Amino acid sequence: MSRLDLFIDRMVSQRACLEHAAALVADMNGPAFELGLGNGRTYHHMRKVLDPRDIYVFERAVASHPDSTPPDDMLILGDVFETLPQALDRFGPVAALVHADLGGHDRAKNDTFARNISPYVQPLLAPGGVMVSSDRMYFEGFEELPLPEHAVPGRCFIYRAPG
Ligand SMILES: C[S@@+](CC[C@H](N)C(=O)[O-])C[C@H]1O[C@@H](n2cnc3c(N)ncnc32)[C@H](O)[C@@H]1O
Repeated sequence: MSRLDLFIDRMVSQRACLEHAAALVADMNGPAFELGLGNGRTYHHMRKVLDPRDIYVFERAVASHPDSTPPDDMLILGDVFETLPQALDRFGPVAALVHADLGGHDRAKNDTFARNISPYVQPLLAPGGVMVSSDRMYFEGFEELPLPEHAVPGRCFIYRAPG
């Protein structure tokens, strides 16, 4: 596959999985967390499909499109290995939806990163909460859900915390 093919698959999968996850948590309270703002495309889409739910964004250096930049009070700046434990102290296990797109172009590095960050993400989810990730996560006791139509296997993963 070309890099363009891979990129398109990732974008299509992110959109399909975020829309599916938003529907799954529609009856739940609790905020959503966006891990990795980047250009802000997925954050922008989350605002559309999760409105009016609060969306907190975790990012170490903001470089997003102006239309896709969260307000200061919804931005949690810093390395996620430090800010996620702080968020757990601040919010508790309340997130209805967590979306993570923290990786770069190196798939092996992304896998190591996902393995290391998984135990920091897992306790943030509320019972029944849903996690969407561009990389396979390494949770204990979470169910991996089937992908929705249009999502490409391997490009996106969906997990649900036990209810
Ligand atoms: C692939 S981009 C996210 C793209 C985004 N989903 C979009 O649609 O534009 C990954 C982002 O994760 C951030 N990131 C990577 N590792 C991080 C870390 N350890 N702590 C905080 N942010 C991190 C990077 O700065 C980068 O902005």
